[in-house]
This record gives sequence, C-alpha cells and structure tokens, in this order.
Amino acid sequence: MIKAAVIGNPIKHSRSPLIHNFWLEKFNVDGSYEPIKAENNKEFEKTVTRLVDDGYSGFNVTIPYKELAHEICDEYIDIGHISHYPSDLKAANTVKIQNGKLIGYNTDFFGFYKTIKSPLNAFNKNVIILGAGGASRSIAFGLANLKKYFWDSSSEPILTILNRNEDKAKTLIDDIYRSNLTTKKMNEKLKLVSGNFDDIYERIKGCNYIINTTPIGMSEENAQMPFDINCLKDGLTIKGNNIMRVYDIIYNPLETLFLKEAEKMLLLTHNGLGMLIWQAAVAFNIFFLDSDIENFEDKYLKKFNEINPELCAKLKREIG
Ligand code: ATR
Repeated sequence: MIKAAVIGNPIKHSRSPLIHNFWLEKFNVDGSYEPIKAENNKEFEKTVTRLVDDGYSGFNVTIPYKELAHEICDEYIDIGHISHYPSDLKAANTVKIQNGKLIGYNTDFFGFYKTIKSPLNAFNKNVIILGAGGASRSIAFGLANLKKYFWDSSSEPILTILNRNEDKAKTLIDDIYRSNLTTKKMNEKLKLVSGNFDDIYERIKGCNYIINTTPIGMSEENAQMPFDINCLKDGLTIKGNNIMRVYDIIYNPLETLFLKEAEKMLLLTHNGLGMLIWQAAVAFNIFFLDSDIENFEDKYLKKFNEINPELCAKLKREIG
C-alpha cells in the first residue's frame, strides 16, 4: 500500500484527505492519505522522520510549515508551471520521499494557473496581488516566470504586490528580481511595484487582475478588506465595461465578502476551489501515480478533467 499524508497546524480544516481519498478510489490505487497535526517545528521534523522510517511515499505541507519544509529538503524540482519551484521561492507544499531523500515541489502555482490560464492570456497584463506570504510568493514567482503568457505581450506588464507590512512586499519583489528567473532583458521590461493597502487607489487604475492571498474573508470577524472595495470600479475598463477579474484564493467560505462585493459590481470572480483541487492533483501524481511529473499533463490530465467535476460538487456540499 502506498502511504501519504498532509502535515499542518491546524489540520482539521484541511480538505486534502477528502480530495486524495476520492482520487485513490477513482484511480483504483491501493493507498492511504491521512491528516497529521504537528504542534511546533520540532514535532514537524519528528513527524517527517517517522514518515521516512515508515516508508511513506511523501507528504503535503500546509500552514505554517511550508518554509520549514523548504529548509529540510535535500533537492528541489522545478518543472515550469507544473511544479514551479525556483529555490528562492522558499516554500514547499509537496515533498516526495525517495530513497530516504526529501525532494521538494511547489504545486500551488499550477493550481492557480490552471484556473486563470485563458483569462490571463486574453488581456494586457496588469496584476495586483494582495498579501506577501507563502501563497503570494508562489503566485508572484509563477507569474514572473510565465514568459509566454505574462511577458510576451506588446504592452508593459505590471505586477504589484500590496501588503499590510510593506517591507515584506518589497522583499518579495527583490527576490524575484534577484532570482534566476528574470533575465536582464526581462528585468528592463518587467515592472514590479510594492506598496501597502492604501496604494490600491492609485494602482487599481487599468488593473485587469486582482488576487487576494491574505486570510481576510475566511472568518466573519475578519471579513472586510482594509480598503474601500468600491475602488475596484477603477479597474480595467473597455468600452465602458469594467472587465477586471477578481480572484480570491480562499475556498472556505466559497464566496468571501470580497467576491460578493465584486460580483455586485458585475466583475468576473474566481474562488480558491480550483486552485485547491489542481495543486492537489499534481501532488497526487507525485505520491501515487508517477513521480515523473513531466508526464502529468500528457498522461493524467484527461482523467482528472473527467472526474474532477464530481469532486468539485462533493467539496461544495462539504463546505456549504
Ligand atoms: P500563506 O502561506 O497562506 O500565504 P502566510 O505566509 O502566513 O500564509 O501569509 C499571510 C499573508 O496575509 C501575509 O502577507 C500577511 O501579512 P503580513 O505580512 O503583514 O503579516 C497577510 N495577512 C494576514 N492576516 C492579515 C490581516 N488581518 N490583514 C491584512 N493582511 C493579513
């Protein structure tokens, strides 16, 4: 039997066990996938040692251990948008155990990319990311690396990171400029901007994509964005119609206040359910199907596309 797990704290909220167990059945794989709570860093590392000793195939990592997982990995795998993981991204969400070695992947960007692929292709590229934590880092690095979709446009693309703590947004931008993703030529064209939430009023003009990666909206006590949402009306407008897209990576609730307000303004919205499912699909491939993930799109995407609507409906019922 092939064994895998997800480690985090808290872990009760995690939908990963439901998702992986659904696919284990559909792909007819003799496997198991369990949630494991690790109270602190020490316990996280002890758990990893136990999984290695017990012959696990690998594990997913969720809040707050993605950075620590990065630190303890022996190797990192970066395969374009499927596992987008330049070493300076510094956050692993999937770890494969191979001959006692820990091999890190970050499949978050694939999850994101899979749900925005066509819309992103359709417009000039002016993107705002709210937040500068682990999820923001994977999306920002991923977008910066999407030469074909993001940078090969005739217009000047702008990627803006706004965060409560502006220094963290600045560090993220510096890391992208410093990373081996960006060539000198790209750096000249690529406009990366950092700021805090007050800067949104100026930055929103002409923006065609805004992505919330903060936890604002996950709970009723913390539901209001720290700026006047009406400013979204100043996003990209074509022939009098505002066509900016609004993405919230939160999937519980399925519709945050941010998305509800955006919908009232007739903006196009996405929640985080697609990202959740597709980042997990690549991890499932790594643990249970074929650790050579270069084959993922050719060999397994069709099957996932067929069965995922049922999974999506199941998750929606669970989340409510
Ligand atoms: P994840 O891995 O999900 O991205 P994270 O690394 O803890 O989680 O990042 C959370 C992000 O949300 C951070 O950018 C954080 O801002 P700070 O860098 O200023 O801490 C942001 N965040 C968390 N709670 C927030 C709140 N109540 N208001 C605004 N931003 C918040």
